[in-house]
Amino acid sequence: MSSPPAKARKILVAVAWPYASGLRHIGHVAGFGVPSDTFARYHRLRGNDVLMVSGTDEHGTPVMVAADAAGESPRETADRFSALIREDLRDLGLSYDLFTRTTTRTHYRVTQDLFRTLYEKGYVLERETLGAFSASTGHTLPDRYIEGTCPICGFADARGDQCDNCGNQLDPTDLIEPRSKIDGTAPVFKETKHLFLDLPAFKEQLTAWIEGNEGWRQNVRRFSLNFVRELKPRPITRDLDWGVPIPVAGYEELFDKRIYVWFDAVIGYLSASVEWAQNRGTPDAWREWWQNPEAEHTYFMGKDNIVFHTVIWPSMLLGYGSGGEYGAGRGDLELPDNVASSEFLTMEGKKFSSSRGVQILVRDFLSRYDPDALRYFLTIAGPETQDTDFTWAEFVRRNNDELVATWGNLVNRTLSSAHRNFGEVPTPGPLTDEDEALLADVAAAFESVGRLIEGTRFRSALQEAMRIAALANAYLAEQAPWTKLETERERAGTILFVALRVVDSLKILLLPFLPFSGQRLHELLGYDDVVAGPLDVETVDEDGVAHDVLTGRYDSWSGRWEPSALPPGQALRAPAPLFTKLDPGEVVADELERMEAAAR
Ligand code: MF3
Ligand code: ZN
Repeated sequence: MSSPPAKARKILVAVAWPYASGLRHIGHVAGFGVPSDTFARYHRLRGNDVLMVSGTDEHGTPVMVAADAAGESPRETADRFSALIREDLRDLGLSYDLFTRTTTRTHYRVTQDLFRTLYEKGYVLERETLGAFSASTGHTLPDRYIEGTCPICGFADARGDQCDNCGNQLDPTDLIEPRSKIDGTAPVFKETKHLFLDLPAFKEQLTAWIEGNEGWRQNVRRFSLNFVRELKPRPITRDLDWGVPIPVAGYEELFDKRIYVWFDAVIGYLSASVEWAQNRGTPDAWREWWQNPEAEHTYFMGKDNIVFHTVIWPSMLLGYGSGGEYGAGRGDLELPDNVASSEFLTMEGKKFSSSRGVQILVRDFLSRYDPDALRYFLTIAGPETQDTDFTWAEFVRRNNDELVATWGNLVNRTLSSAHRNFGEVPTPGPLTDEDEALLADVAAAFESVGRLIEGTRFRSALQEAMRIAALANAYLAEQAPWTKLETERERAGTILFVALRVVDSLKILLLPFLPFSGQRLHELLGYDDVVAGPLDVETVDEDGVAHDVLTGRYDSWSGRWEPSALPPGQALRAPAPLFTKLDPGEVVADELERMEAAAR
């Protein structure tokens, strides 16, 4: 019946790098975090070779602004938030093969290799530009420090790098009536030399490539094609002293010019793969994902990151080819195969904003509620394909009516009855048509749920798994094994056997979404091994300089993406509820009160 094992596919899961400039809120992890982890866990269960990489994005203005506000150096701010973000992502169970930092030696080296190679190949142009300087202090004014009216949509509070209203990328000189965000004075624009990436050189290649990617979400494809139509060279250096030094003569000595943070951040996908390979003592292993046309690269991010992943990073990859120290003539670096971007999450009808207290920090959330409850909500009701609103009332309702009432209840009824009356997985008698039908539905779900996850349609995938849980509840209600314990003990045992197998299968179908409860259930079912263990924070030493990373021993986890083979006779452990039912009145009142307090 079973087909021969398919060849393991090489899956790169490239996850957007959170800025080490503050604590991350649930809108961030809704965009890049939970979807990417679901995808990675699924592929590992399928037996594919997953490399999931990311880290904290630590250079440039965002971190400098936060450092100024805290009276720290950028390095101190980055260290502090990198550690806190790493803990949050660990506690949410995001199973990175490597979650590192952009301040590592490896990252500097790979970034400089790409920069230098693009420069040597003629894809980097030098230009005089008008840099913005503060009229009051004389210091350079980073793009994000400048506000003004958007020349495209007229929005009054556009920033020098981007308009949050229409989403267009801007330069500070585009703004109408620009002003410094710090003191409101009009910036002074002065001539300064910068290096630009020659994006128009890639226009034809990019257009053909994006057009060919018919599987991309429509919004991503349309937005990117639009962007490519009007490509201009883009500056990839900045007047800052916090970033990767520019490895080009005439620039490398300057202490006040650095590589632009977005240029170095996207290179993180590659440098983290290189670091991962080094850390394992197999320094060339990253090539199996990056210089292998058969590898599949999927990127996860929020929608404000799209062009960096569909236009700028691909241009850099095309320009680099197989050149430079890392390419080593061993094959062109792979372009993204899929760019799964999510929309935005709002909060009780308002845009997330840390300054206005409109936010729910991941760590606050996890200090009060289960990680799986958050993962469930963000998948089933999150911003996968449209902007969505988080409300506490809806969170509690989904938790209670779906997670607890449908899935938790199925597990509870089945395990309690089997444990109390048999103490082990009962040995079944002959199966009825109803038994067979349910088992067939569950078996088919491995196909349907798997296909949806591969297509990054996580909400539908989870709905499909929950539909099976509802079918199993209906089966139990109809078969009512608890009424047959005295009179038809063998039949009661058979029904419970079927239900246990279904629960065990659903454990796997839901494991990419609900790893923490999945592991607990695995133990209750009497298994002794691990299907979803804890993640590890480890210290990596690079020539005497240490940094911490998030990783895990995924090779040691069991679990296959296939229907349960739970053996009759396996001893069951005393059941305990998988999920916590929440009091709607209490939760909503407490949380809204907290939000108001934060806004004061
Ligand atoms: N730090 C950026 C943000 O939070 C995302 C960087 S993604 C990467 O919007 F590709 F650049 F790494
Ligand atoms: Zn605008």
